[in-house]
Amino acid sequence: MSGIPDSRGLPWQASMTINVVTVDPKAELGKKLFFDPILSKDGTVSCASCHKPEHGFADDKPVSIGIKGQKGERNTPTAFNTANLKFLFWDGRASSLEEQVLGPIENPVEMGEKVSNVLEKLNKNPGYAKEFATIFKKTPISTSQLVHAIAAFERTLISKDSDYDRFLAGDSMALSDSANHGLALFNGKAMCIACHKGPDFTDGGFHNIGLPITDDVGRAKISVSGKDTRKFKTPTLREVANTAPYFHSGEFDTLEAVIAYYNAGGGEDTYKDPLKKPLNLNQQEQKDLVAFLKSLTGRQPKITPPTLSH
Ligand code: HEC
Ligand code: HEC
Repeated sequence: MSGIPDSRGLPWQASMTINVVTVDPKAELGKKLFFDPILSKDGTVSCASCHKPEHGFADDKPVSIGIKGQKGERNTPTAFNTANLKFLFWDGRASSLEEQVLGPIENPVEMGEKVSNVLEKLNKNPGYAKEFATIFKKTPISTSQLVHAIAAFERTLISKDSDYDRFLAGDSMALSDSANHGLALFNGKAMCIACHKGPDFTDGGFHNIGLPITDDVGRAKISVSGKDTRKFKTPTLREVANTAPYFHSGEFDTLEAVIAYYNAGGGEDTYKDPLKKPLNLNQQEQKDLVAFLKSLTGRQPKITPPTLSH
């Protein structure tokens, strides 16, 4: 290392070694809960059954399987980088992580459990009873404590230090030539940035991109507005190389297929976003866009399942 000083005037190497990792006990507790099937009715499904760490905290199936082998209706999105989202779920029906947590627990095809039963199980569990009491200083365990602990863990799920982040931080060699060209296309000719913008690659809004029509009307069910028909939330693209299959329906298995679909301008739908037109990208340009999307995989420490106390 050349020992270039950082913003505090410390040589780069030295500043790395004083980087102390602090662990928030609330987030640690939330992590246990995230991985614990105790939250489900029959003790078989945890948050991590669908938001799998090895698949970018998303699922590798088009739709996830909840308790008793039941199939859900939509593809499991990544739980990475959700801390700053204005809207959660594909249709935006929750507006904070705290509000979102109860959704899957009580959804009959996901965890199918009453929150009151979850609290009863946790209060009876000596390990959890002690840990909650130490952190929240108030007994018994409440719904608010449960959702705050899980949300605290979710806020630690941040994809970072990808090739793209290194490029932004000034390492001009961090992106391959192909990914670099893909970045230019993303921001230019392919107009991806119109919707996938900002540090998390989402405008937080809802768009209809012309996917095959099903019974799922998306945002329109929540807003009760016809113009929102089959609009879905713009997802983050961070970790996207690990989160196949893609779209709310799990329509495509590969990033190559997603790009080919976008290149063709998407399918036919009266409500389709006017931005979704054919892009006229040649084969190499499509490969470059895929290379750029692959540069969004972070190098954050691997998150492994915790040891559960029961
Ligand atoms: C059976 C599979 C399943 C389980 C179990 C599950 N999820 Fe999900 N999760 C999904 C699906 C599917 C969606 C999208 C649902 C929708 O949009 O209607 C989702 C959405 C989310 C989102 C919103 C992400 C975004 O970008 O809007 C978060 C955060 C999340 N889940 C966290 C959790 C937590 C925390 C738990 C445990 C308490 C959990 N999930 C349990 C399948 C699951
Ligand atoms: C008009 C807004 C808009 C534009 C422009 C746009 N996207 Fe999207 N993108 C979305 C929305 C909305 C979704 C989710 C759609 C759904 O599932 O119904 C999405 C989904 C995706 C997904 C799937 C992610 C996942 O987790 O399932 C990828 C990959 C993607 N877009 C990449 C791109 C690229 C690359 C471009 C440029 C060629 C682009 N998008 C242009 C709005 C847009």
